Amino acid sequence: MISEKIAKAINEQIANEQFAAQYYLSMSAWFYKNDLDGIANYFRVQCKEELMHADKMFDFLNDVGGEIVVEAVGKPPHQFQNAIEIFEKALEHEKIVTKSIFNIMKLANEESDFATVSFLQWFVNEQVEEEANASQYVTKIKMVHDNPSALYLFDQELAQRVFVPDPTAKVK
Ligand code: FEO
Repeated sequence: MISEKIAKAINEQIANEQFAAQYYLSMSAWFYKNDLDGIANYFRVQCKEELMHADKMFDFLNDVGGEIVVEAVGKPPHQFQNAIEIFEKALEHEKIVTKSIFNIMKLANEESDFATVSFLQWFVNEQVEEEANASQYVTKIKMVHDNPSALYLFDQELAQRVFVPDPTAKVK
């Protein structure tokens, strides 16, 4: 049985993941508006991934008998100066998510809640990948943003990204 404290933290993290999804959707909209549909696709897929993260937490909380409390999700920013700012904000946001996952992991360790520790390990690994990717894209967008041919190719590259559903998801 999960403690109320950890259940509350996971409920909050579900909302954080859903907020991240909204944020990425907002970023995606900016790129569609600016006719960079490939980059828009990248952020659209990122949005779906965040919803998948929220779903994983939802199912886990239910499995361990925690009370699920669906929280409000805030409105994300929708005005951005340029593509570099968006990629930088995406990286910044991933770092915030990492920090909050680490905080829940710390709580779970303090309570010797090994089920939650084991569950969260997937997210710890995921955040390493998320931050590495986001950081790499900050570098890349800075390289190409003022070169139309290079930006076109970058957009084409990101158009290839597809959402891979979680094979363990209860609802596909
Ligand atoms: Fe669910 Fe991008 O962290």
